[in-house]
Amino acid sequence: MSLEYITLNNNNKLPNIGLGLWKLDPKTNVDTIYNAIKVGYRLFDGAVDYDNNVQLGIAVKKAIEDKLVKREELFIVSKLWNNHHAPKNVKPAVDRMLKDLQLDYIDLLYIHFPIPFAEVDVNDDEHYPPGFFTPNQLEEGQKGQIQLENVPLYKTWEALEALYDPKNGVIRNLGLSNCQGVLIQDLLFGCKIKPQMLQIELHPYLPQWKLVEWCHLKDIHVTAYSSFGSQSFIELKSAKADNCINLLEHDKIKAIANKYEGATNSDVLLQWALQRGLFIIPKSNNIERVKTNLEFSKKFKDGLSKEDLDVIASLENGTRFNDPWEWNNMKFPTFI
Ligand SMILES: NC(=O)c1ccc[n+]([C@@H]2O[C@H](COP(=O)([O-])OP(=O)(O)OC[C@H]3O[C@@H](n4cnc5c(N)ncnc54)[C@H](OP(=O)(O)O)[C@@H]3O)[C@@H](O)[C@H]2O)c1
Repeated sequence: MSLEYITLNNNNKLPNIGLGLWKLDPKTNVDTIYNAIKVGYRLFDGAVDYDNNVQLGIAVKKAIEDKLVKREELFIVSKLWNNHHAPKNVKPAVDRMLKDLQLDYIDLLYIHFPIPFAEVDVNDDEHYPPGFFTPNQLEEGQKGQIQLENVPLYKTWEALEALYDPKNGVIRNLGLSNCQGVLIQDLLFGCKIKPQMLQIELHPYLPQWKLVEWCHLKDIHVTAYSSFGSQSFIELKSAKADNCINLLEHDKIKAIANKYEGATNSDVLLQWALQRGLFIIPKSNNIERVKTNLEFSKKFKDGLSKEDLDVIASLENGTRFNDPWEWNNMKFPTFI
C-alpha cells in the first residue's frame, strides 16, 4: 500500500492518500465509501458542495458499527461553502455539516474558495447546499449572476479558529483551498492558527511548482486535486477538457508507464504527485480503480526516474480546468 501518515504543523497526522468525493455517483456513494474503508482508505475528501455529507455519514457509521474501523482511525474532510463565509454563519454551517455527517468533529475543514457569495441560510433545506443559488435580491436583468457579499477572508478564518483545537475541537485541522500565495501570506500576517493544508488543482499541465515550494517552506502541506487533469471535467462538458490531450491517454505518460511492470497512466500521475510530497485524493466510482489508486506505489520500487520526471515536467502548459473566472462569466480574480 502507498499510504503513509504525515505529520502536520500542529503535530496531528493525516494519511497522504484519500478518496475524493466530488461527483461520486449518488446511487452508489454509500457502498463506494464503505468499500473504500474495507480496502484501506482512511481519509475522505468531502464538501458541502458535493451534496453527499449525509451519505458519507451513513457509510462511516456502518463501517464503525461493523467494526471495520474506529472513528479515530478515520479522517473526515469537509469544506465551508461560499454562501457561508460571514462570521455569524460559520458555526451554523459547521453544525449543519456535523449533523449531516452524524459526527461530533471534523478532521480537516477547508474554506472551499476564497469567494464570499451572498448568504443563504444553512437551514433553508430548499437551497442546501446552495451551489450557485443567488438569493432573490438582484435587479431584473442581473438574475442568473453570482452575487457576492463583503467578507474578507481573514474574518471567515477567525470564525473557524474559534472552533479549532488540534485534539478536542469540533475542527481538528484547518485548510484553505483554491488560494494563491499572496492571499495565504496576507492571512499568515494576522492569523492565530496557520493553515495545516492547502488544497489546489495540480497535475502535469498545472504543476504549481512555486506555490508548492513556498507552502512547504512555510510548513503548510499541499493536497493535489484533479490529479488526472481533464478527466474529471469531461463529464462537465468543459471545452478546455475537450481541447487537450487526456493525460490518462497521453503517449508520453504511456511511454513512462511502459517502463514499470503493470503500471498505467493513472499510476504514473499519482506516483508523480506522491513523489513531490503531496497528498492526493483521486475519486472513482469503480471499486477496482479505487483499489488501484491506493496501491500504485508498489509498481515504482525506486520511484520515477529523473528522466521520467523531466518528461512529465515538459508537459506543463498552464491549463487550469477549475477557474471561478469562468463561472457564470463572474470574472472573479481568484488566479490572476
Ligand atoms: N477543492 C476543490 O475546489 C476541488 C475541486 C475539484 C476536486 N476536488 C477534490 O479532489 C478529488 C479528485 O479530483 P477530481 O474528482 O476532480 O478528479 P480525479 O480524481 O483527477 O479524476 C476522477 C476521474 O478519473 C476517473 N478515474 C479515477 N481513477 C481512475 C483510474 N485508476 N484509471 C482511469 N480513470 C480513473 C474517474 O472515473 P470513475 O469514477 O469512473 O473511475 C473520474 O472520471 C475530488 O473528488 C474532490 O474530492 C476538490
